[in-house]
Amino acid sequence: MESSERSSSVPTQALNPFMPGAGIRPPELVGRERDLEAIDRMVARTKLQLMNQGIIYSGLRGVGKTVLLLSLQEIANSKGMATARIEAEGDPRADYDKLFREIGLLAARLQSSTLQDKLSNVISNAESVSLSIMGIGGSVTVSDSDELRTSSLRLELVIESIVQQLRAENSGMYLFVDELQEMDKEPLGTLIAIQHRMGQENMPFYLIGAGLPNLPGVLSRTKSYAERLFDYRTIGQLSEEDTAEGFQKPAQRGTRPFSDEALKELVHVSHGYPYFIQAYGKAAWNVSDSNPISLDSVKRSEPIARAELDQGLYASRWQRASLMGREYMAAMARVSGDVPCSSSDIAEDMGKTPKETSAVRDALIHLGLIYSPERGKVAFTVPGMGEFITRATPPTGQAYDQTR
Ligand SMILES: Nc1ncnc2c1ncn2[C@@H]1O[C@H](COP(=O)(O)OP(=O)(O)OP(=O)(O)O)[C@@H](O)[C@H]1O
Ligand SMILES: [Mg+2]
Repeated sequence: MESSERSSSVPTQALNPFMPGAGIRPPELVGRERDLEAIDRMVARTKLQLMNQGIIYSGLRGVGKTVLLLSLQEIANSKGMATARIEAEGDPRADYDKLFREIGLLAARLQSSTLQDKLSNVISNAESVSLSIMGIGGSVTVSDSDELRTSSLRLELVIESIVQQLRAENSGMYLFVDELQEMDKEPLGTLIAIQHRMGQENMPFYLIGAGLPNLPGVLSRTKSYAERLFDYRTIGQLSEEDTAEGFQKPAQRGTRPFSDEALKELVHVSHGYPYFIQAYGKAAWNVSDSNPISLDSVKRSEPIARAELDQGLYASRWQRASLMGREYMAAMARVSGDVPCSSSDIAEDMGKTPKETSAVRDALIHLGLIYSPERGKVAFTVPGMGEFITRATPPTGQAYDQTR
């Protein structure tokens, strides 16, 4: 360690600004200026009672969807919009519960007694209205699907009441939903329908969702008009310039920048993936014994970063798959590495027919490990998963099997 660092009272590692992890705010949110400007514009228009579209972000694992939603919510909040955020679960009751809880808190924060009265009326009315719509009266046993219909109606009425009040105050409701592709189709259909109706009625309700690359397809399968309802944006790899900034700005603030060669190497190995920026940045900072951080330190830190990525990003996902699922993913890696490949080529590689492999493919899609970028094709949801499998698994697909 250098003498200047040894003399410092705080250990250098404790000052490490880089933080790989799911949903952990980066020290510098790079490459998202356009999205931050878009939310600024939306808020400005909402204040003028002009309409906007909801936004749908889609991208692979670790590209920064969650932290982007967090930043957008923070901006909307700080500019006087009423916001709520949930992470979808995939169970209709759990999804509705989360929606009611967070939207209930949003309403409570508005501190309006007229709104509270209106909401309690709306909620009790929703039960009886939905029962009479079903034509069964209050005393008949209510089935699961009736209960979901009641929740759907109640959600619509609650949102409508809140948004009416917000509009009168030149504000609006911004609902952020992470992992939206996971949401059960019943609450998802309800949310899309609400977005549709609110738009027609010039009411400021905006769904801002994020999820895996299959999200746009999930939405249009749920309601075909969803295609025209939202502003669809993909988030992926960052430009070289933004990637360099993602490394250098936090390091400079920590008064230990990267040398030009070190930075070039980091930009190269991280491929512009936000999660990789944090993982490689963290390892390089910890290994370095020089200021500025040298190319040599970066080179020495790379195996450490890769091991952390293997453990944190890849191995846990690999272990989530069944043995058949692992064989399928190993075949994907063999056939085309990290680029999308055709399901029939994978089946052929496994010595099976496409029909014989469709159940395992669907199970992997359900687990969120792979997705279908277009009909008849599959791809990994985690960048670099194919490379990991090729590197870490013997041909039998048994690697990282210790936990089973
Ligand atoms: N724009 C960015 N600049 C720098 N680092 C970022 C950026 N966006 C995200 N990160 C970092 O990348 C990592 C992953 O971010 P995040 O959890 O938001 O990704 P995600 O797309 O939601 O992933 P998942 O699909 O697994 O939920 C975090 O450590 C975060 O700090
Ligand atoms: Mg996320």
